[in-house]
Amino acid sequence: MAGAVEIAEGIYSVGVKDPSLTLFDDLFPTEYGTSYNSFLVRGATHTALIDTVKFKRCDELLANIRTLMDPADLDYIVVNHSEPDHSGSLSFLLQHCPKACVVSSQAARTFLGNQIHTQFASRIVKDGEELDLGGRTLKFIAAPFLHWPDTMFTLLAEEGMLFSCDAFGAHYSGKGLFADEEPDFSGETRFYFDCLMRAFKDRVLAAVAKLDGIDLKMLCPSHGPIYRSEPRQQIDNYRKWSMPKVGGRRIAVFYLSPHGSTERMAEAVAKGAGDAGVYATLCHINHASIADIRDLMEESDALIFGIPTVNRDIPKPMWDVLAYLSTVSLKGSIAGIFGSYGWSGEACRMAEDRLKGLGLKLPVPFVRAPFTPKPEALAECESLGRTIAEEVLKK
Ligand code: FEO
Repeated sequence: MAGAVEIAEGIYSVGVKDPSLTLFDDLFPTEYGTSYNSFLVRGATHTALIDTVKFKRCDELLANIRTLMDPADLDYIVVNHSEPDHSGSLSFLLQHCPKACVVSSQAARTFLGNQIHTQFASRIVKDGEELDLGGRTLKFIAAPFLHWPDTMFTLLAEEGMLFSCDAFGAHYSGKGLFADEEPDFSGETRFYFDCLMRAFKDRVLAAVAKLDGIDLKMLCPSHGPIYRSEPRQQIDNYRKWSMPKVGGRRIAVFYLSPHGSTERMAEAVAKGAGDAGVYATLCHINHASIADIRDLMEESDALIFGIPTVNRDIPKPMWDVLAYLSTVSLKGSIAGIFGSYGWSGEACRMAEDRLKGLGLKLPVPFVRAPFTPKPEALAECESLGRTIAEEVLKK
């Protein structure tokens, strides 16, 4: 970001761009880089900085602030979220801003204490609390689990500007500062939501409900462009993406089947579920996209996994599917496992550990069958599907 840019009278973007970043948090691909947005708000009597940047870019942040004021005069540093891409510069910055008080949620204060091992002035704010800057008011809106327990929004009430930190952002480093200056990057905003927020849909709905009734003029997330035209569009998208789907009860059966045996077991599981009155969708995981798998996980009342053992392990594509479980908002907690194996059969036990570790309940022991399943094994699979369907219908 080229220095400090005034985005409204007395309100400046002072963050930095990181266009060459290819992997965020060592987890998420960032084809278009990202930015670490930070904002300086001047009131008549006090000045506040809202969020900082990652530590490696702290010099640029400080230089941007220096173009506007002596950092020693800064009164507040608001930490909407204490993940180091936003708070990593805080310790450095406090050395140059000796009178600045750090304003955050209680959770963020606790997390900052574990990051910065020295004393610093701080103020804990609760939902709805306000901070007067002199003719300008910062109002804090608790938005926990978007996507950490500490997250909050800061609303500059008089101007209708919302500083939302991670929420509504995108890993996208554009040429300008504003979304209306960029080509369509909606794919990045959706990918970002899926990576960071999807697992917390109920929290997203609770947070966006708090924004109803606000006359919003500008939406300023901490990653990616700022929204000055149609600032509610991203908020509406988050609401839409988080709304529960309506429909009848259903079960998803995710499976892999190198030689057709686990597939036969999957069909028997689906038949048992259907006999009990619950439709089961069979999903060969290599024939479905990640998005389809995640959608099916969220739309289903129970999840059943057909997992063959290969080289004493769960095959990698199925490990990936099991990893998606912590990235979605599940409707229920009922699960089941079955699978074919050759001579050792460890996969079902490993999957059981994984599912139980995530808090899922397995009302039926897993069903394993060596090589080609016998009729008795297929009958067990039918019974597994039937019992899980009956559990679903009790809910
Ligand atoms: Fe952009 Fe959760 O940090």
